[in-house]
Amino acid sequence: MSHTLKIGLAGLGTVGISALKRLVSMQTNIAEKAGLAIDVRAISARSRTKDRGIDLSNFHWYDDPVALAKSDDIDVFVELIGGDSGSAEASVRAAIEAGKHVVTANKALIAKHGNALARRAEANGVALNFEAAVAGGIPVIKAVRESMTANSISRIYGIMNGTCNYILTRMEEEGLSFDECLKDAQRLGYAEADPTFDVEGNDTAHKLTILTSLAFGTEIDSESVTIEGITNITSADISAASELGYRVKLLGVAKKTQTGIEQRVHPTMVPKDSSIAQISGVTNAVVIDGDAIGSVTLAGPGAGGDATASAVIADIIDLARGLEVKPLGRPVEALDPFKKSEIYAHKGGYYIRLRVNDLHGVFASIATRMAEQEISLESIVQHKKRSKLKVDAELKGTGKHQDIILITYETTENRIHNAIEAIKQDGHIVDTPQVIRIARI
Ligand code: HSE
Repeated sequence: MSHTLKIGLAGLGTVGISALKRLVSMQTNIAEKAGLAIDVRAISARSRTKDRGIDLSNFHWYDDPVALAKSDDIDVFVELIGGDSGSAEASVRAAIEAGKHVVTANKALIAKHGNALARRAEANGVALNFEAAVAGGIPVIKAVRESMTANSISRIYGIMNGTCNYILTRMEEEGLSFDECLKDAQRLGYAEADPTFDVEGNDTAHKLTILTSLAFGTEIDSESVTIEGITNITSADISAASELGYRVKLLGVAKKTQTGIEQRVHPTMVPKDSSIAQISGVTNAVVIDGDAIGSVTLAGPGAGGDATASAVIADIIDLARGLEVKPLGRPVEALDPFKKSEIYAHKGGYYIRLRVNDLHGVFASIATRMAEQEISLESIVQHKKRSKLKVDAELKGTGKHQDIILITYETTENRIHNAIEAIKQDGHIVDTPQVIRIARI
């Protein structure tokens, strides 16, 4: 390698342009920190003519990112194209096989192909850095992979999708519906035109699988995540949670259990006084529980051009400094196979909202079905008015529907499933039951 680290950058979207502008405008400062000049030699994107607010004529242009990845004129290939296949995958593979270091922000690619790519990177003696792939500007990859290596990590969880956290925050603070908040998120540019990947939990799942591997030394297994999004969360659930002392957050959780590792993404009720409950709006946060550190919370911007570019450039500077770490924290050969703990074995408290016929005996019958499954109830309340929860064991036969809300003590998902099936068979329920896991953290 010469005294200049030569960069090829593919993908000039929000993150790509921020990274390019920052690498150029901070060139001297970055060189001082890196101990080496960092020079963007070549770029590639879909359109050469689009106005991006920066003169691109100083950079060698490649129509084909794969050709750029293999170019003799670069030392590091920076992939900011996105997606788990197509030119993103092809160019990263090509760069690794051509002996180039790779820096990427691509969570989908690492989640799906991370094991194989890490293996090839090791075989070719190159780095594969992906700090920007999880929680944007928060340096969580470095924290888990490098700064916390002296710990045995028992759990890692977090809010890793700003779109969902923005929606849930506004639903709670303003009593708005999911649809109203989603429209605002799109208008403000937080949510994609097609927000499915975010609101259905897939984006969080990708990030979680990467953290799971780093935290527990296991192969990345993106097929083994239980995923539930936030589209079914109603303002009634959010206000009931609030009155009970909880907030609803979309959490990604990876946890060691006696039967394996739980990897799950779902709306979760968290106590209002927990650190994770304080994270509002588009902010992300990751909590790491380790035997030496106790619990550490990292919070910050999980998306956005400049914040994500900050992580991309830090990865490049690491390479300039000669800091090369195995992509998954240890050789791929040394990773354990991922052993999944099935969601039905999950233990925890549950919030259950049942819309039932307002008839004599329904309340008692529900309590009986819970008792049959040995589920202890912390509370069982009848939600008579939207703004007020009231315990009322004697429903009057008004012929209308009522919401009954149950909070359970710790039990298993299997027992909850069995109890709800029995209640359904009793014919009292008039709508799909709402079940939200409670994290007592
Ligand atoms: N769309 C994501 C979010 C950011 O809303 O947080 C990129 O993963």
